[in-house]
Amino acid sequence: MTKVLVATDKPFAPVAVKGIRKAIENAGFELVLLENYTSQEEFVAAIGDVEAVIIRSDKADKQVIEAGSKLKIIVRAGAGYDNIDLPAATSKGIVAMNTPGQNSNAVAELALGMMVYYARGFFNGKSGSELMGKKLGIHAYGYVGKNVARIAKGFGMEVYAFDPFIPREEIAKDGVKWLGTVEELYGTCNFISLHIPANSQTKQSVNYSLLSKMPAPACLINTARAEVINDADLLKMFQDRKDFAYLTDVEPSNKAEIEANFKAKFFCTPKKSGAQTEEANINAGIAAAKQIVNFINNGDRTFQVNK
Ligand code: 3PG
Repeated sequence: MTKVLVATDKPFAPVAVKGIRKAIENAGFELVLLENYTSQEEFVAAIGDVEAVIIRSDKADKQVIEAGSKLKIIVRAGAGYDNIDLPAATSKGIVAMNTPGQNSNAVAELALGMMVYYARGFFNGKSGSELMGKKLGIHAYGYVGKNVARIAKGFGMEVYAFDPFIPREEIAKDGVKWLGTVEELYGTCNFISLHIPANSQTKQSVNYSLLSKMPAPACLINTARAEVINDADLLKMFQDRKDFAYLTDVEPSNKAEIEANFKAKFFCTPKKSGAQTEEANINAGIAAAKQIVNFINNGDRTFQVNK
């Protein structure tokens, strides 16, 4: 019988696991659960026996992939697949997929929630400010960016976006102001919301030269990846710009130093929680399960990311 492993150190909501189980068992497959594991060795030990695996931010590294002697498919239930060693998977003929768009509303809601939290002085009881009329720059206009724009427009924000891969008309038809360079985006907006993936082009790309272009007061929101920021430059921004605030769902490497010195302008979720809603877990988890069933039974490779 085909075995499907769900390996999640940050588990899906029980209701989503129920849905995943149903999709897997209805296909006549067996579900194996590895939740809340604390060492990569546990993941390596569990993979040996299975044909398919569903992960979240769990690391499908070379060691895991090599231990997967029967492994045919890895599905990242979510958007970013920087946690999968794609060359290792490809060299073993293993298909890697993501589930684009399935958790994007949840992440977008968190981004806007962070903006409100910032505008209201981290709920400190003093007089704050409103989002209406403020300029928001969306850095990358994919599924999450698009949802951020939709919600931000509901708040009455003036929304701008930069994305070199999305045609200008597609951005403009959402009532979002298209900008042709990333420098213009940072130079125009008091709020910047990051939605770029972490890859060789984007890692460390949000640096001092870019951030320092932001008009005061500047607020950077990161519900994307920690690696896209240059952390030394981030610290320099805090040091040089009293008006700069950073709210993030992904921990910077120098979190302790920033927290010790700039607590009033910094917030980091205790655990990455953008996609941590029942709805997003159901959408992404069940999509992942169905993609596996469709691949094993019909060879469907839609959403393959290592072509
Ligand atoms: C994603 O890439 O889909 C998001 O960052 C969510 O990640 P998570 O599944 O680890 O919460």
